[in-house]
Amino acid sequence: MSTLPFIPESAPFTPEQRAWLNGFLNGMFSRLPAASPTTNPAPAARQLAPLTILFGSQTGTAEALAKRAAKEAGKRGFAPTVLDMAQTNATKLAAEKNILLITSTYGEGEPPDNAKALHAALKANGVPPLSNIYFSVCALGDRNYNQFCRCGQDFDGFLEKLGAKRAAPRVDCDVEYEEPFNQWLDGVLKALGSEAPVTVSPEAPASKIEIPATKSKSGKGFSKQNPFPAPVLTVRRLSSADSQKDVNHVEFSLEGSNLEYEPGDVLGVWPQNCPELVSAVLAALHCDGEEAVATPAGELPLRAALHKHYDLGKPSPDLVATFATAGVLANGSSETPVSDEKWLDVLDVLQAHPNRALPPNEFVRLLRNLQPRLYSIASSPIVHPDQVHLTVGAVRYEAQERRRKGVCSTFLAERALAAGQVGVYLCHNRVFKLPADGARPIIMVGPGAGIAPFRAFLHERRAAGAIGRNWLFFGDQRAAHDFLYRDELEPMLSDGFLHRLDTAFSRDQTNKIYVQDRMRENSRQLFRWLEQGAYFYVCGDASRMAKDVNTTLLEIIQKEGGFDLEASYAYLEQLKMEKRYARDVY
Ligand SMILES: Cc1cc2nc3c(=O)[nH]c(=O)nc-3n(C[C@H](O)[C@H](O)[C@H](O)COP(=O)(O)OP(=O)(O)OC[C@H]3O[C@@H](n4cnc5c(N)ncnc54)[C@H](O)[C@@H]3O)c2cc1C
Ligand SMILES: Cc1cc2nc3c(=O)[nH]c(=O)nc-3n(C[C@H](O)[C@H](O)[C@H](O)COP(=O)(O)O)c2cc1C
Repeated sequence: MSTLPFIPESAPFTPEQRAWLNGFLNGMFSRLPAASPTTNPAPAARQLAPLTILFGSQTGTAEALAKRAAKEAGKRGFAPTVLDMAQTNATKLAAEKNILLITSTYGEGEPPDNAKALHAALKANGVPPLSNIYFSVCALGDRNYNQFCRCGQDFDGFLEKLGAKRAAPRVDCDVEYEEPFNQWLDGVLKALGSEAPVTVSPEAPASKIEIPATKSKSGKGFSKQNPFPAPVLTVRRLSSADSQKDVNHVEFSLEGSNLEYEPGDVLGVWPQNCPELVSAVLAALHCDGEEAVATPAGELPLRAALHKHYDLGKPSPDLVATFATAGVLANGSSETPVSDEKWLDVLDVLQAHPNRALPPNEFVRLLRNLQPRLYSIASSPIVHPDQVHLTVGAVRYEAQERRRKGVCSTFLAERALAAGQVGVYLCHNRVFKLPADGARPIIMVGPGAGIAPFRAFLHERRAAGAIGRNWLFFGDQRAAHDFLYRDELEPMLSDGFLHRLDTAFSRDQTNKIYVQDRMRENSRQLFRWLEQGAYFYVCGDASRMAKDVNTTLLEIIQKEGGFDLEASYAYLEQLKMEKRYARDVY
C-alpha cells in the first residue's frame, strides 16, 4: 500500500506521531466518499438563516441534543441541519455559515468515533480558513474523568484558530447537562439571530423544516430521564463460587415498553445505593433517616433520598470544600487536613470529621445526583423478544480498611431481583454494529464481561442465518471458574457455527497469557480474515486490554502485510473508516 506524507518532517511531531498522523490521514482521505448525503434545505426554506448542527456522539446523548437544538432552532426561524461529524470534512465546513457543535469526549480525552476524522483534519495544517463562520460549542463530559470535556474544548480551539467567530462562549457540561445545555442553546440562538437576520418564508414555516434523520428507535418516550421500569427476570451467576470474580447474567423484561434495540447497543441502568452504606452515612451524620429533605423527586425522608437519589461515591468538590473550611472546630480541636485525592466516597469525608454536624438539607445539597451506569447488551432481540440481557462484573474492593462496592454492579448482583423492577433506557451505539452483509466474517475480542455484545452478535447471526465465519477470542483468569457462557459457546464451536474460539486463561499456567497473545499466535490467519473483509471488534477494559489489542493488531498488520509503520496505521484507519474496526471499551 502506498501512502502520502501529509505531515512534513519539519512538523513538530515525533517520528511515531508523524507516522500515526500520516497513516490516519491517508486512511481517511483514501476512503472518504466523493459526496456525502446532501443536506441542502428545501428551496422554500432558503431564506431562513442556515444553521448546521454537528454532533460527535458515541452513545447518542450529543446526537439527541443536536436534534433537540434543531427543533428549537426551527421554531426560532433558522433552517437547521443536523449532521453527523463523520459526514462532513474541513472543506465542506468552510462553506457553512452558522455552526453549533455538540460533542462528547471518550477514552481519555479523545473524540467519540464519529468525530475522530474531523478532529484530526482540523488539527492538521492545510485546512482552508473558516473565517466566514459563526460557531459555538457545547461540550459533553463527566468531571470524574481527568480530561473533562476535552474533545469539545479541542474543537472550540481549532475553530477559533481557523478564523471562525465565536457567536457564544463554549459550555462544558457535566453529567447533568440539561440546564447548561438549555442555557447555552438559548444564548447562542439569540446571538446568531442578531448576527444573521432571519427572513421567515411564509411557504416554509419553521416547524416543517426537515432534519435529515439518523435512525433512532429508543421506544416511546422512555429515556434516561424517564426510564422504563423493567421487571427483573433473572440474575444468574456466571463465574463459579470459587472464582475471584463475581460475574452475573441479568435478564430484564421489556414487554410493553416498545423499546427496540440491536446487538451492539447499550442499556442504561438506574441503580440504588446499598442500604448498609446508607445506614453508615446516616450514623456518621447522627441522623435517623426520617428527616425530611428536598430531592429532585420532591420531599423525602433522608434515608430514602440517600438510597435512591444521591451519589454516595466520589464526593463533590463542594462537599470537600465545606469540610476543608471546617479546619479548626468550634471546640478548638483540629481535623485531618482535607485533600481531594484521599476521599474515595462521601462516607470517607464524614468519618474523617466526626465532630462536624451538617443539617440534612444542607448535606444533600452538597451531594451529586445518583447517575445511571451503562452496560453492553448481551442478547439478540430476535432470539429473546421483549427481553434484554446483560453480563455484569461486580465491582468489590477494599481500600483504607473498608470494604467497598460498585454501586450499580453490586445492586444488580445483590438486590435487583428483590427490588423487582429497575429503571432502564437504551443507548444506540452508532459504530459497534454487525456487518449488514451476513456473509462477512467477524472477529471478536471480548475478555471478561467484554464478551457481552458478542453473545448478542452470535445469537443474532445464528438466528438470522448469517453464513459469515465467526471467530471469538475470550479470556479471563481460570477456565474452571471464569469461562463465561461456556455452556453456549462450546456447542456453537462443535456444531461449526463458531468457527474459531481462542481462549486465554491468564492464571492457568505460570506465565500469564492474554487475548492479545492468542491473536499474535494466530497472526497469519487473523490477517487473512481481515484481507477477506472481516470486521474486527473489541469489547471490555479500556485502560489496558483494548490498548494492548490495538498494538497487537497493528503489529500483525505490519508483519503479515509487509507494511511499514505508516502504512500499517493507514490500514488500521481504513478499517475504522469502513466501520470494520469497532470498539466498545470502558
Ligand atoms: C459503554 C459501556 C458499556 C459497559 N458495559 C459493561 C458490561 O457489559 N459489563 C460490565 O460489567 N460493565 C460494563 N460497563 C461498566 C459499567 O458501566 C460500570 O462502570 C461498572 O459496572 C461499575 O459500576 P458500579 O456502579 O458498580 O461502580 P461505581 O460505583 O461506579 O464504582 C466504580 C469505581 O470504583 C473505583 N474502583 C473500582 N475498583 C477499585 C479498586 N480496586 N481500588 C480503588 N478504586 C476502585 C473506581 O474509581 C471506579 O471508577 C460498561 C461501561 C460503558 C461506558
Ligand atoms: C468509556 C468512557 C470514557 C469517557 N471519557 C471521558 C473523558 O475523558 N472526559 C469527559 O469529560 N467525559 C468522558 N466520558 C463521558 C461522556 O463524554 C459523557 O457521558 C457524554 O455525555 C456521552 O455523550 P454521548 O452519548 O453523546 O457519547 C466518558 C464516557 C465513557 C463511557
